[in-house]
Amino acid sequence: MGPNARMLLYYIDLLRLENRSEHAQAVKAYWAAGRLTEHGARWYLRQLEPTILELQRRPNFLPRVPELGEFLPHGLPDLTLGKLVESPLVPLGMRVNDAINGIFAGRAGSGKTTAMRGVVCAVLRWNQQHPDDWIILVIIDRKGGDYADLPNAYPGLFVHVAAEQTLRMGLQQPRACPVRLAINRYSEIIAARAGLRFASTCLANIMDLLVWALNPEAVEPLLWPTFGNLLELARIAPLEAFAAKGDYEKSLIHRLEGLVQASGDLFEAHRGLEIEEHLVPKRKHLIIEQNLLSPAWVRAIATDLLFLQLLMGRQYRYERRGTINCLIIADEMDDDLSEESESAFQGHLSPVAQLIQQGREAGIGVCLGVHALGHVATRYLADLNYHCFFAVGDSLSLRTAANTLNLPPRGHEILPALVPGECVYRGPGPWADAVLAKFDAIPPSRVARPTRFDEHPYVSGRSLHEMPEVLERIRSALTNLRGARIKAKQAGTLSDDAKRFLRLAAENPYTPCARLFERLKISAFSKQKAIRRELTTFDLAEFADLRLGRRNVGIVDVLPEGYALFDQKPPSRNGRGDIAHRHLAHWVAGVGEKRGHEVQIEWLAPGTSHPVDVVWKASGKAQAFEICVGCTDNIISHLRACLLESKAVATVTIITAQATFLSSMRAAVDAEASLAPVRDRVRFEAAEEYLKELFGA
Ligand SMILES: Nc1ncnc2c1ncn2[C@@H]1O[C@H](COP(=O)(O)OP(=O)(O)OP(=O)(O)O)[C@@H](O)[C@H]1O
Ligand SMILES: [Mg+2]
Repeated sequence: MGPNARMLLYYIDLLRLENRSEHAQAVKAYWAAGRLTEHGARWYLRQLEPTILELQRRPNFLPRVPELGEFLPHGLPDLTLGKLVESPLVPLGMRVNDAINGIFAGRAGSGKTTAMRGVVCAVLRWNQQHPDDWIILVIIDRKGGDYADLPNAYPGLFVHVAAEQTLRMGLQQPRACPVRLAINRYSEIIAARAGLRFASTCLANIMDLLVWALNPEAVEPLLWPTFGNLLELARIAPLEAFAAKGDYEKSLIHRLEGLVQASGDLFEAHRGLEIEEHLVPKRKHLIIEQNLLSPAWVRAIATDLLFLQLLMGRQYRYERRGTINCLIIADEMDDDLSEESESAFQGHLSPVAQLIQQGREAGIGVCLGVHALGHVATRYLADLNYHCFFAVGDSLSLRTAANTLNLPPRGHEILPALVPGECVYRGPGPWADAVLAKFDAIPPSRVARPTRFDEHPYVSGRSLHEMPEVLERIRSALTNLRGARIKAKQAGTLSDDAKRFLRLAAENPYTPCARLFERLKISAFSKQKAIRRELTTFDLAEFADLRLGRRNVGIVDVLPEGYALFDQKPPSRNGRGDIAHRHLAHWVAGVGEKRGHEVQIEWLAPGTSHPVDVVWKASGKAQAFEICVGCTDNIISHLRACLLESKAVATVTIITAQATFLSSMRAAVDAEASLAPVRDRVRFEAAEEYLKELFGA
């Protein structure tokens, strides 16, 4: 083989010229057939020289360039955006009856905005030619001014609003959507973006109450709370009213304060911009300037809400369509698409992710612009279908590009060397390899910022203090709310054992815990302790340990919230005093009943104003019982009232928990001279005896 042929084959292999040039393919064929002459090699070297020089300057190891028919087997694209660099007759574009989930990634000045403006212009052209398949554009302009020339260039077609000026966003549910669905999703998003995932339920409950209070008649269109209203309510109500634990109370209020402060008037609306109602029927495009909206999490909430209201409404109404009729253009989306932001949703889909996955069926496409490809969450990259990777230089982005586009070895090396407007592209068509493409040059917008942006219909927000009737409804609801909320919340989280115990305790009041556990066959002390802790934490039952003689008796009272869990009304409390006092009184009454007496708790001794704890009545005579758990006060005056003032009481029995207490009590009575005549009608007994008689040993 001569030197020319050797050099030619060397360059063809080194630069993989077969993928770039038909001449190189021909050389390889001649060589394989043993027919490559020195003369022929010299000719081919001359032909290939410009390509070799170009590739030495800028290595291009991308796969081979497709033919027109390979790249676009179904004909020309609907939206023409540019062409292939190495085959300028092959156009680059998008189809409106495919999903359009595009990403435009590249460092500053690489041509993202120009390309996205190209998409906008292509859609405007499409609309002129296909008025029946009109596509509305929703453009998020985070830099400010990138799209400001459009309203003048296309008079009457655009509504141009600015987040800190004329735009008002509300939490209203999309048309026909159930309120609860919207509330849950909104609170999930706000909590995730605010980094307070655990506050989501709490927020949902706050929102729920406010929607109810703002709309007592539930007449559509409903008024929805502003973020300011959420904050007001969070401040006036104890947050435990809205969730089992108020731990994040302070951080929730703190975050809401941040949100209200950073968003200015943006969310000051009980109903805000509704793309579906205000723009789609009028075929108007929307440009939202968000450049002054910060920090990133507040901006993300504003963007999420916009996306979600659009998508959720269409999904709920089953508005499925084969072609897109709404295209979202959102540049500078790095923060919203980062791995970090996606992980904040923990298993749920962020609205952007939802849009990418489910937008097509709802007729919504998205084109997203980012600077740092390497920081985009992998799940987004996998779901996107138009990948346009402009110049990037950092190694993470290069690696990400190579992985996402499945580039051949060294294929990514061209990325840092791309000129503005050029990109490594892969689309959804049958051509599965990446190609080098160039977007058409579109002049940038150079118009001045409008002094006044466009207006749109909204219901202006008011503070709760400006709506006293709403505030009043909230106050009264809060009083009832707590029990109901806890009930709803706990029903799901309580363990089965705790639920069984609670039910049994509610059915058998004043039964010692030991007996209840016995009946449930729960003997492990640790398990019993866990149940007690669970029910106490959730405020469903109250426990105490009563020291009777030498043993401790666990007692339980089911609280109203506990009864509510089983949709039972709590029994009206009878018996004075604390849990121990009430238990002893009921045990004494229980024994009286067992022995066939008529019994009463809290009985007013006739002829006195003195209530006796328990009374047994038999053949017209009353046996009164006084329970002394902690103090001996008044016992003398009680005895005087029962035995001296009233004629109806035959005996008074003093019941105490402790035998030692009993003897000091006896001594006090013995020392009281006025009681000497009736001393034989005073008895002393330990509560333990009653417990034994009622429940066995
Ligand atoms: N397709 C193109 N053809 C020719 N020149 C282009 C093309 N795209 C971009 N340029 C040139 O590059 C400049 C920067 O482009 P553009 O503003 O689109 O970049 P960008 O990626 O959006 O940058 P930034 O990240 O700073 O917003 C343009 O002003 C233009 O001069
Ligand atoms: Mg830009």
